[in-house]
Amino acid sequence: MCGIVGYIGKQPVKRILLEGLKRLEYRGYDSAGLTVYAQEGFQLAKTVGRVANLTKAAAKSTFPGTLGISHTRWATHGGVTDANAHPHISSDGKIALVHNGVIENYADMKRFLTTKGYTFSSETDTEALCNLIAYHYAKETEGTPDRTRFFTAVRKSLLHVEGTYGIAVLCADCPDEMVGARKGSPLILGVGTGEYLLASDVAAIVTHTSNVVYLKDDEVVHLTREGFQVMTTAEYGVEAKIDQVTWTVEDAELGDFAHYMLKEIFDQPASLENAMRGRFSDDGSTAKFGGLNLTPHELRQVDRIVFTACGTAWHACLVAEYLIEKFARIPVEVEYASEFRYRNAPLDKNTLVFVVSQSGETIDTLAALREAQRKGYRCLAITNVVGSTIARESDGGIYQHAGPEIGVASTKAFTSQILIAAMLALYLGRMRDLSYADGVEIVKALKEAPGHVKKIVAQAEHIRSIAAKYAQHADFLFLGRQAMFPIALEGALKLKEISYIHAEGYPAAEMKHGPIALISEQCPSVFFASSGEILQKVVSNIQEVKARRGKVILIHTEDCALPDGLADDTIVIPAAHDAALPVLATVPVQLLSYYIALERGCDVDKPRNLAKSVTVE
Ligand code: AGP
Repeated sequence: MCGIVGYIGKQPVKRILLEGLKRLEYRGYDSAGLTVYAQEGFQLAKTVGRVANLTKAAAKSTFPGTLGISHTRWATHGGVTDANAHPHISSDGKIALVHNGVIENYADMKRFLTTKGYTFSSETDTEALCNLIAYHYAKETEGTPDRTRFFTAVRKSLLHVEGTYGIAVLCADCPDEMVGARKGSPLILGVGTGEYLLASDVAAIVTHTSNVVYLKDDEVVHLTREGFQVMTTAEYGVEAKIDQVTWTVEDAELGDFAHYMLKEIFDQPASLENAMRGRFSDDGSTAKFGGLNLTPHELRQVDRIVFTACGTAWHACLVAEYLIEKFARIPVEVEYASEFRYRNAPLDKNTLVFVVSQSGETIDTLAALREAQRKGYRCLAITNVVGSTIARESDGGIYQHAGPEIGVASTKAFTSQILIAAMLALYLGRMRDLSYADGVEIVKALKEAPGHVKKIVAQAEHIRSIAAKYAQHADFLFLGRQAMFPIALEGALKLKEISYIHAEGYPAAEMKHGPIALISEQCPSVFFASSGEILQKVVSNIQEVKARRGKVILIHTEDCALPDGLADDTIVIPAAHDAALPVLATVPVQLLSYYIALERGCDVDKPRNLAKSVTVE
């Protein structure tokens, strides 16, 4: 939520800021702004709407500087107005600030600062912090050497903040300095030669350098054109570790695709391959993971697993529950991270906790992780973003290696999470009762998944034609049984978030206990079916819908024997083992949602009210 880009170096800064914001726009797109340091003061441009609007607004002046900060906003405090857009400038004109997060005690700060003569021109929490830094800057004693006065003022101010922040700050008296800090919201330092960047995400950095420092909570960085220094807010020096980013610029480019969501759907054969690479045993009967930091002996002691996450990642946890209970026979519970952190869930000593998060920054998931760790539980993470806060704070885990996911609607991250869940189920199962032969069969099925996904995406035009038929309906049901139930939930969420159609996911049989009242010609149902013992039950559920004149789109495996004319429209997917089936069943609903949203003229990559990475509670 909210994207920050700051730059100090030798190049003209305006283009760097605008390009960086474009890459971070998925984090929020209510308004955007930038400020560039100039001798006569801060040059400022801000506008409601997208970065494209800001680019137009900024074209009106030259902005000649080489030091600047910028922001794309997902509104929390204060409406979507030019005045509330960042950067904010202190009322004495000394400090410019961009912020991602929430300053919870901003009202107290404002009251205090008003008594000191500071004034406010926005409704934001951020402006309070901006003026507080100006206050501390003005208060710094004459004895403090100039070089550290601004840096010290920022650090001192942050000691008074309750809440979360990723910030980049400029001072009107300091043409060669920028300060950044983080607590609870991501901030990454890009280390170039004679130039440095601050950004909420590496996507805005990789075009300039692959050397990065993942700042930690309570760290403040002081940047000049000659170098940087990291300290904690409590004034301890920190030895910053420079990491290498493996993502390339091309990974984050749209290429020939119309939208990131479509690109990422088509990326899935590759992202699934990446999730599996080097992770099967030599005998081809089990999986192996390098970063769990648990011995096989410790893993065998685990008698319960709690998975926790938000949104799509929570659906991935439900798939993990089904697969781990089926193949490893370990009881699994799935908790919404936002609930888990506030309730006193009893966990016993052999419980292992898994948090799942594409971004690794979702605040509720992070808080759930911290709460479980506080209670003394071993917590592992499944995350996509290397160096993210969850990746760093967990006791071990599994990287997804899905590459950057930029579309707000999660697609390739979800399928890579559920593939990893299958590998985990296999690994834990083989430590227990799952036979060698079953293990070999599962490994084979998982290795075939990328090829099967290629065949499904090749049906994009067929799915598009189905989407065109149903795009104007106002309600949808998604119905599936067993591991297809979480896929039904995910299908409903995908449709809701990008097309604004009301959609609900249910276990297919549960439909009779209420949702069946919604069935009519106006409310189509998307069903999932695969061959096996449950198929006839699903067929009966479909017939119950048809008997009430409900339209049915059926996604089924090619080996299903089905009565003629059962569904109005069908999407056939390859037959697969239960371990791989959830991945295959997901892809058609991603495409269906995408094309329905397109038919309705929705902004697929930037759906209203949403942001990619939810870093506020
Ligand atoms: C998915 O399409 C959503 N935009 C959203 O539900 C997302 O999955 C959720 O916010 C969790 O994000 P995370 O995986 O980055 O933690």
